[in-house]
Amino acid sequence: MSETLTEAKPAFVLAKLPYGEHALEPVISARTLSFHYGKHHAAYVKTLNQLVAGTAFESMELEEVVRRAAKEAKAGKIFNNAGQAWNHAFYWQSMAARGGGGPEGKLKEAIERDFGGLDAFRDAFAKAALGHFGSGWAWLAAGKGGRLSAFSTADADTPIAHGARPLLTLDVWEHAYYLDYQNRRADYVAAWLDKLVNWRFAEANYG
Ligand code: FE2
Repeated sequence: MSETLTEAKPAFVLAKLPYGEHALEPVISARTLSFHYGKHHAAYVKTLNQLVAGTAFESMELEEVVRRAAKEAKAGKIFNNAGQAWNHAFYWQSMAARGGGGPEGKLKEAIERDFGGLDAFRDAFAKAALGHFGSGWAWLAAGKGGRLSAFSTADADTPIAHGARPLLTLDVWEHAYYLDYQNRRADYVAAWLDKLVNWRFAEANYG
């Protein structure tokens, strides 16, 4: 009997998009989604697999890699690629083909309590997304006691490295919108809030 050599399975896999590449049009074009998912996100996962090979990170869940690497000065490259791998997977889920509208139930109550209403939340979230200098992410996240806040993180940074629980994220790296909006980040953010934001996902994350 001949022995079949199988290649070692990569530690991390690129999860499938939760929708087709045309699903988010016209807010996000299939071209943008194709590059963003198939090139950028795929590259972070591939690089991460190369970086963790033979290290203790190899056997961890992705979230744990992010948390641990954030605390290790020498694991900066691993943190960047793990953070980007995690953030992008979360971003795809933060959008839906017929998104927009507003939250229901407990999340609706919490948005009213912590922001003063949905419009005030939108203003705070857009301010975080537009005010962010350079590459990064805008977040709606729950902190201690479930208190909500909207803020941005730079580069690959992510709330899960700081003990907060993300509910939604918006990618504000230029690669997320430049083909469709060029320098008009404000139009991308407004269209995203109006038509793509997946409140059902946010509600499930709030629990
Ligand atoms: Fe991105």
